[in-house]
Amino acid sequence: MKLLIFGAKGMLGTDLMEVFSDLSPIGRDQSNCDITNELQVRRTLEEVKPTVVINAAAYTNVDGAESEEALATQINGEAVGILARAAKKAKAVLVHYSTDYVFDGARKEGYREDDPVHPIGAYGRSKVEGERQLALNSDAYYLLRTSWLYGKNGKNFVDTMLRLAREKSEIRVVNDQHGKSTWTKDVALATRFLLEHANHYPYGIYHAVNEEETTWYAFACEIFSLSKSAVTVTPIQTKDYPTPTKRPATSSLHNTKMPPLRSWQKALCAYLTE
Ligand SMILES: NC(=O)c1ccc[n+]([C@@H]2O[C@H](COP(=O)([O-])OP(=O)(O)OC[C@H]3O[C@@H](n4cnc5c(N)ncnc54)[C@H](OP(=O)(O)O)[C@@H]3O)[C@@H](O)[C@H]2O)c1
Repeated sequence: MKLLIFGAKGMLGTDLMEVFSDLSPIGRDQSNCDITNELQVRRTLEEVKPTVVINAAAYTNVDGAESEEALATQINGEAVGILARAAKKAKAVLVHYSTDYVFDGARKEGYREDDPVHPIGAYGRSKVEGERQLALNSDAYYLLRTSWLYGKNGKNFVDTMLRLAREKSEIRVVNDQHGKSTWTKDVALATRFLLEHANHYPYGIYHAVNEEETTWYAFACEIFSLSKSAVTVTPIQTKDYPTPTKRPATSSLHNTKMPPLRSWQKALCAYLTE
C-alpha cells in the first residue's frame, strides 16, 4: 500500500498517520494541499502516485456550519467529488469518513449502514453531499461513518470535561441524546483492517464506532470516574442546553458488516491511560 492521507494534522488524521506509520504514509494538510482545489489535488496524486487515498480532511464545526453552510458544503461535499475523480484517475482506493449526523435521530433503535439518510442540520447536509459525491464519482471506496469522536490531537468532549473538572465543582451534562462515543485511534485501526482485508470486505459503507450506546451524561460520568475527578455531574435535557444546531436524539450507528470495535468504556480507559 502506498498511502496518501489528507487532513493529516486533524484529530483522526494524526492517528491515521500513526497507525500506518510502518508504511511511511504521505500526509497533506490544508497548508500544502487544499482539497477544494482540484488542480492541487490532481497534482498531489500525480506526484505521490498512491494506491490508497484517505480523506480525513473536513469542515467539522457543527454549529458553525449553520452560518457557513456554503463553505461546509464545499469542503465536505464538493471536495469529496474532486478527491473521488482524482483517485479514480490514479486507480487508487479512496477512504472517506462520514457521521451519525446524516440521520435525523428519530429512530430509537439506531441506524444500520443501509438506512436512508435524513439530516436535520447544515453539517449533516454537507456530509450527505459528500456521501453522494463519493457514490457518484468512485467505484472503489470505503465510506466509514463514525460518531462522537475524541482523540489526542483535536478539540473534543473528553478533554473539555477534564478541563471543566479542574475549573468547576459542578457540571451539567445532557442526558437525552444517545449515541456511540468513539476513539479516533480505533477508527484508524478499523480503516487499516478494511484495507488489509479488502478481499473479504467489499467497497461500500461501514459503521466504525466503539460498541454500546451511551449518553453525553453517562460518558461524562465515566470520564470523571476513570480520571478520579471529584466533580458533581448533573443530568439535564437538551432543551436546557440550547445550541445553534438541532442534534439527533438517537444517533447510534450499528456496525453490521465488520468485526465490532471494542466497547466505548474500554476505548476511553485506553485513551486516558495513553
Ligand atoms: N469530530 C467528530 O466528533 C466527528 C464525528 C463523526 C464524524 N467525523 C468525521 O471524521 C472525519 C475526521 O474528523 P476530525 O474530528 O478528525 O476533524 P478535524 O480534527 O477537524 O480535522 C479536520 C482537518 O481537515 C483540515 N481541513 C479543513 N479544510 C480543509 C481543506 N479545504 N483542505 C485540506 N484540509 C482541510 C483541517 O485543517 P485546519 O485545522 O487547518 O482547518 C483539519 O486539520 C471528518 O470527516 C468528520 O466529518 C467527526
